[in-house]
Amino acid sequence: MIFVSFKPPMTATAIEAEPVNLDTAEAIIRRSKRHIAGGVVSLNRKTTPHLVFVKAKGAHLFDADGNHYIDYHAAFAPHLLGHNHPEVTAAVRDSLDSGHSLMGSGATPWEAELAETICQAVPNLELVQILNTGSEASYLAIRLARAYTGREDVVTVLGGYNGWHDEVGRAVMPSLTQVGPRVSRGEYPFCPISAGIPVSTQRRIHTVNFNDLESLEYVFRRHSVACFITEPALHNVGVILPQPGYLQGVRDLCDRYGVIFIMDEVKTGFRSALGGYQSVCGVCPDLSIFGKAVANGYPMGVLGGRADIMNLLADPDPKKRVLIAGTYNGHPINVAGALATLKILSRNKSAVYAHIEKRAARLYEGLERLFRNYGKCATVSRNASAWCIYFMDHAPQDWHDVLKHHDFDQDTQFRRSLIKEGIYLFPSPCKQGSVSASHTDEDIDKTLEAVERVLSDSSIETSEKNAAPVRQFCDSKS
Ligand SMILES: Cc1ncc(COP(=O)(O)O)c(C=O)c1O
Repeated sequence: MIFVSFKPPMTATAIEAEPVNLDTAEAIIRRSKRHIAGGVVSLNRKTTPHLVFVKAKGAHLFDADGNHYIDYHAAFAPHLLGHNHPEVTAAVRDSLDSGHSLMGSGATPWEAELAETICQAVPNLELVQILNTGSEASYLAIRLARAYTGREDVVTVLGGYNGWHDEVGRAVMPSLTQVGPRVSRGEYPFCPISAGIPVSTQRRIHTVNFNDLESLEYVFRRHSVACFITEPALHNVGVILPQPGYLQGVRDLCDRYGVIFIMDEVKTGFRSALGGYQSVCGVCPDLSIFGKAVANGYPMGVLGGRADIMNLLADPDPKKRVLIAGTYNGHPINVAGALATLKILSRNKSAVYAHIEKRAARLYEGLERLFRNYGKCATVSRNASAWCIYFMDHAPQDWHDVLKHHDFDQDTQFRRSLIKEGIYLFPSPCKQGSVSASHTDEDIDKTLEAVERVLSDSSIETSEKNAAPVRQFCDSKS
């Protein structure tokens, strides 16, 4: 006789009650080092202290040694609703229980629904394609731009990140020694993010400062530029906002020089607003890419934009047609995660954003007050629920500004001290923090209490500059 045991879906309480992991962090790290090159998958996750997380729920992380943390890292930002949001998890389970599978042939109802939902949320998108990562989306966006324009050069921004592939392969956080003095107008020397990028590709990539229209035009004039790709607000070197008029200036220059404007909303999309940062700033790019928060932690990249460009993916002329292929594109698990996420984000006229904003404002105001009270030189920079503390007396305008003025040692020390207090910010300088819909007032207050304990500890030294902290809001017309 065959016994089939049916295990009901675990409730949150059941998850809580289960023993999470019997191995210690040390044993898990040792085992990983034995078989994983570099000891960690995705080497940007390697950091000190090397914690081993084994469970996450809402805004909370649990490590293998039994410690608990309030999480602001959010796995590099996808968890806008918090980890394992019950409604998203239920939708994924439901999709599997309904017999949805990776069909790999023709259209599916869930992909059609997702594409429609995304186009409704972001009105600038006439057509979309669904991939698995932001890197794939930026790769395809650049390929489309090259095919459309017949040009090859790509302009990127110092301090921007657009994925790990060769076409955007310049360093995100190069040191001051690497970049040298400020270049404006002009372009920075190519500084690779990785070994193995062909010199021929490196020559096609140009790097200018964010918020620097003169340099952008300088490069547009001198090279055969297919596209300019940038995050609308830099979220990979903390949070650096566009100056008023910058993004519109980019739009105008791209129009003047026939360059495709790719707005990389992998981090800002769905976090800044349901319609992305483009709906906040009122500037319409030619192509946009999304990821992260669109599926609240399930793997997804989205590319969308002008129909005349997107239609190259199905051009009847094979010489003009741009290839998109991917065995796992539109995987039903990811699509179910995205559909459930977007449902929550758009429910009740997107009321969830006001909910998150309240918690975020409580955090930012508290941080400001504490830094002021303790006479520390710091600036809390924010874009909606994304934030970063810079240990400098003003909000940076670009990465060069951060390199010149930010106290990197103090930043690292501050983050490590917070971890000891049970607050998890990724312990590398200038990494963006994220508030989620799962953070409660109590979480925020506990965080502020921890920050106060850290600041009152005299071993965290104030830098010599002691100006009052300033706060930088998300400006509405960029
Ligand atoms: C702005 C931006 N673009 C692109 C990417 C690449 O996305 P993925 O890691 O999903 O490939 C990232 C990832 O952090 C990102 O922050």
